[in-house]
Amino acid sequence: MSNINLSRRQVIIGAGALSVGAVAGQIINPFSRAEAKGGKTEKWPWPYVKLDPAKTAEIAYHEWYRIYCGGAVISSVFSQLREKLGEPYKSFPIDGFMFLEGGVAGWGTICGAVIGANIVTNCMIGPRYSGATDGLLMGSEILDWYTETAMPVYVPKKPKVSPEKIPHTTSDSPLCHISVGKWMKAANKPFKSPERRDRCARVTASVAYHLVELLNQWKQGEYDTDGEIPSAEFGISTQYNCEDCHGSDVPSPPEEAAK
Ligand code: HEC
Repeated sequence: MSNINLSRRQVIIGAGALSVGAVAGQIINPFSRAEAKGGKTEKWPWPYVKLDPAKTAEIAYHEWYRIYCGGAVISSVFSQLREKLGEPYKSFPIDGFMFLEGGVAGWGTICGAVIGANIVTNCMIGPRYSGATDGLLMGSEILDWYTETAMPVYVPKKPKVSPEKIPHTTSDSPLCHISVGKWMKAANKPFKSPERRDRCARVTASVAYHLVELLNQWKQGEYDTDGEIPSAEFGISTQYNCEDCHGSDVPSPPEEAAK
């Protein structure tokens, strides 16, 4: 465990557990509930049947080579639910999310696989105003898990690149740029290499696998979230690896400093 995780726990103990409701109070919803409830798809939760995590991961792995990380995670879950349940999955424009590639159009922001997982949890379980916060918190839990896990976890049944060519790296960050960058440094492989591409396909499969594990727990009524909302803990929207960017001199947000 890094110092950051230690300090995160300390912050939680110090500040007490802030509820999701407290975050909700800080964000102004520009639409009234009546306006947002018009669509057929805006009835939550969407139907779900338990899926096989390994089968889902295989679909995600192969879909990466077609529509990349974010689209592939969404497709791995929603394409199966299209077949098993039909709507609203048939109407969902899976391939429209291809733009999540490279952390949104190659900008290296959040890893598309993690955004894809958040799209699935929030569309299926619902936004936090729908009465359940599990969609939001499951998405946050996946962000946290992603940052702490030596990736990629999942080894495909028929890998396109031999597994020993794919080192495992821990990103400490949900950012595509940092996650890919740390891996490229460890592997000494360029961005367009088959190894880097296969690494990202496997990361995508790993996220899809874990996502379905959590969704299956949720379906069984056994999901007990580890999700947290960092902005509620730190007084600024943030990821946890403060020192990676700020060094040892991590600033406090104005409100905290004014106390
Ligand atoms: C990915 C890099 C990155 C990470 C991770 C990060 N920050 Fe920042 N943060 C920045 C940058 C860049 C700014 C812009 C202001 C600057 O240059 O100092 C900033 C600004 C801030 C500010 C407001 C400006 C100031 O100086 O007061 C605060 C407060 C802050 N960060 C706290 C944190 C805390 C606490 C964490 C961890 C929980 C964190 N940051 C994680 C990059 C990062």
